[in-house]
Amino acid sequence: MAYHKFDVVIVGAGGAGLMAAMQLPNASIAVISKVYPTRSHTGAAQGGVAAALGNQEEDHWQWHMYDTVKGGDYLVDQDAAEVLAQEAIDAVYDLEHWGLPFNRTADGKIDQRRFGGHTRNFGEGPVRRSCYAADRTGHMILQTMYQTAIKNQVRFYNEFFLTDLLISEGRCNGVVAYSIRDGEVHTFQAKAVIFATGGYGRAWSITSNALACTGDGMAVAYRRGVPLEDMEFYQFHPTGIYRVGVLLSEAARGEGAYLLNSEGERFMQRYTPTLAELAPRDIVSRCIVTEIREGRGIDGSDYVYLDVRHLGEAKIREKLPDITDFARTYLRIEPITEPVPIQPTAHYAMGGIPTDLEGQVIIDENRTPLVGFYAAGEVACVSVHGANRLGTNSLVDLIVFGRRAGKHIAKQLAAGELDHAPLPADAEAPTRELIARLRSNTGETEGPIREEMRVVMMDLCGVMRTAAGLKDCAAKIAELQDRYQNVRVTDPSETFNTELMEVLELGNLLDCAETTVAGALAREESRGGHFREDFPDRDDVHFLTHTLAYRGAEGGVQELRYKPVVITEFQPKERKY
Ligand code: FUM
Repeated sequence: MAYHKFDVVIVGAGGAGLMAAMQLPNASIAVISKVYPTRSHTGAAQGGVAAALGNQEEDHWQWHMYDTVKGGDYLVDQDAAEVLAQEAIDAVYDLEHWGLPFNRTADGKIDQRRFGGHTRNFGEGPVRRSCYAADRTGHMILQTMYQTAIKNQVRFYNEFFLTDLLISEGRCNGVVAYSIRDGEVHTFQAKAVIFATGGYGRAWSITSNALACTGDGMAVAYRRGVPLEDMEFYQFHPTGIYRVGVLLSEAARGEGAYLLNSEGERFMQRYTPTLAELAPRDIVSRCIVTEIREGRGIDGSDYVYLDVRHLGEAKIREKLPDITDFARTYLRIEPITEPVPIQPTAHYAMGGIPTDLEGQVIIDENRTPLVGFYAAGEVACVSVHGANRLGTNSLVDLIVFGRRAGKHIAKQLAAGELDHAPLPADAEAPTRELIARLRSNTGETEGPIREEMRVVMMDLCGVMRTAAGLKDCAAKIAELQDRYQNVRVTDPSETFNTELMEVLELGNLLDCAETTVAGALAREESRGGHFREDFPDRDDVHFLTHTLAYRGAEGGVQELRYKPVVITEFQPKERKY
């Protein structure tokens, strides 16, 4: 048995996990990561990190807070939005001081660009709020933080796969993970555990998410009785590379790119005259789907164009080097001279493991904390994004709430309020039994189940949804869950058994998918990223509320409960842009 004891175990080595690690200089910390840390999905974030620095034009954190609440279709917890907008400023300066190579203004300040839904003076027009490093901001954040973590001698366990959350006597006291390198199961005992494991975009067939984004943290917590919040709110980014899904940053539109239909029309001007291409993502994605359905997709097909040609070669090469390369690599298109085919792509989970403002996991509508358990970043739902996240607010979320979780634990440790509690008896047994069962199963392999899940989620639980489609989707996911029980692993080896890992990941994706569909079916309204064709209006009377999905003992969503939205400054209004 491999056993480790630390003050704090952080699962996930992306922006949230590393930011938390940085706040704990006096604690013993382990960072466990499924991938090598600099391959974490934070590195895929492109266009920027929002903060009201006001370097390019007047800006205020209150405007950022307002945009976040309105962009989230008023499902945002406004105390969280206030923290996000206020603390973004210091968190960005932390990154600058650690050496992040931001683009600069002529007088040497951090440069800022436009992004969807970011406005001046409470909605009057676009504002430059996104701090950026070309179109590879997440990559730069990750590299900067990783080298700072190495300098601070953080201990990494790379290529370890999370399998279980340890809870006893009503508190969390560690995790179980297996080493992908040699198949050994490890127990990590800790006074506090932080999940920073990211999202689950691989549940859809067209996605911007890396292969690693399989909802591991969410599913492991869910199976241990922690509810998942607001899973029906899943964001489709408007501009994924056609058929591939790889992200083409909103920064392109921030720099002035157009969206064009088959008639060469900048159709967004028709739908949202004030912000046009820079409306929030849920709106732009729905407009693209509407254009396609009404026959104005390019050549009658299911895509439209992103056009950067008029920006000119110099600006494209300076500001958008990576995404234009992606178009060359994946489509053999030269964006300097040709428009690029795009379609909405599954991008970001607004929902996840519910937390309070300090990153502590809460397990019910009364906000009861699970002592010792924290979550930050996309895996978490502090509900700062509500029903739809604004572009560049994901990187802000990572650095602000990763920092708060780390600081809160540091304070608790200093006050002696967190200690090592006894581990459950034979902590590794459930993991060993699960792996043994998968190895002895005789059913089908995982490939077909995975593909069927991704297709049905894309077709029936995507940008537009209906009751009939969601019922079919729920039935299909339940069928896939049944088939999954007997899925077999054909590779018997212990060393880098990626088939075993993919089977475990598929189980996690199915659990995330079932909560998404259950929440979507129950929510008979349209709000943000959740659009019901059969209930096209927002319904604040019945649904201005967060969903909490609980798992039953035998699997499946047993119960949906509801938690009030925190409203402080901004009363819900119709969302006009
Ligand atoms: O479009 C983008 O660059 C994506 C940014 C984000 O999701 O925040």
